[in-house]
Amino acid sequence: MNLITLNNNKQIPIIGSGTNTFGKVNNDYSEDINFDTTELQSAITNGYRHFDTAISYRNEAVIGKAITESDVPREEFFITSKLPGKPEYTKDEATIDEAVKNSLEAFQTDYIDLYLIHHPWDNDEEMVATWKVLEKHVKAGTLKSIGVSNFSKDQLQLILDNATIKPTVNQIKSHPGEWNHDVIEFGREHEVFAEAWSPLSGVSDANRVRLNAIGEKYGKSWAQVVLNFQIDREVIVIPKSHNFDRQKSNLEVFDFELTEEEKQEIYNL
Ligand SMILES: NC(=O)c1ccc[n+]([C@@H]2O[C@H](COP(=O)([O-])OP(=O)(O)OC[C@H]3O[C@@H](n4cnc5c(N)ncnc54)[C@H](OP(=O)(O)O)[C@@H]3O)[C@@H](O)[C@H]2O)c1
Repeated sequence: MNLITLNNNKQIPIIGSGTNTFGKVNNDYSEDINFDTTELQSAITNGYRHFDTAISYRNEAVIGKAITESDVPREEFFITSKLPGKPEYTKDEATIDEAVKNSLEAFQTDYIDLYLIHHPWDNDEEMVATWKVLEKHVKAGTLKSIGVSNFSKDQLQLILDNATIKPTVNQIKSHPGEWNHDVIEFGREHEVFAEAWSPLSGVSDANRVRLNAIGEKYGKSWAQVVLNFQIDREVIVIPKSHNFDRQKSNLEVFDFELTEEEKQEIYNL
């Protein structure tokens, strides 16, 4: 798996697997957790070592179970989770400490590779205070890297202005039709990698047709073209599939190179 080096010298697989419907009844985001690890096991078999989850998804323990039950050592995995930007999780140091402790227990691990503030909220002072507690956990070794998610340029600047430890990533929505190029570029200028959530699900039918046409000469699908485009510009991607073959095909994106014209066309979608 191709790795990129974050601004703290830690490495992250540039493709991870989303998980927000994994381990849930009917693969439904809002349904109960059933601890089914089928998709996680098939992802591990396919070579995924990077999993993206969140406290809000309620399935950290399912990811922990799949990792523990696999024959791959913990240190070969890269686990991301996210702290909700809600008062019940962020109101003071003790609540944040408790959230981190619960995440560690759910994953059955003594460190988490990447922990993000899931969403910004309307209180700069509180966001900075939350960041400071996450920094404490980095110093303690329980969180290896920290970052943010869904932060605008101004919100990212706020954290950069007040951080002792820089955010490593900003996980944002990015797909054809809603690329968020400006946030990606702003992060790049500050060594904060963009990580694209929902890299595939929001792609319109019309854009799928155009991307399939671009991919045809390489024998690649629209989804593979999107992932290749993002990886080429060092945007981390976390596609999710419940299907073994699509999980596999989402990793088969390193063996072709789009032309500059094709990249420009995709950039403009
Ligand atoms: N930070 C945030 O606020 C935030 C918000 C949303 C999501 N996320 C994270 O981002 C992850 C990914 O987003 P997402 O769950 O929306 O997934 P996604 O990868 O954008 O799309 C998933 C959908 O695309 C289909 N799919 C996957 N690979 C395909 C392929 N090669 N060809 C055709 N269809 C394909 C899947 O169907 P099949 O299962 O049938 O293959 C599924 O319906 C989430 O799971 C979560 O971890 C973060």
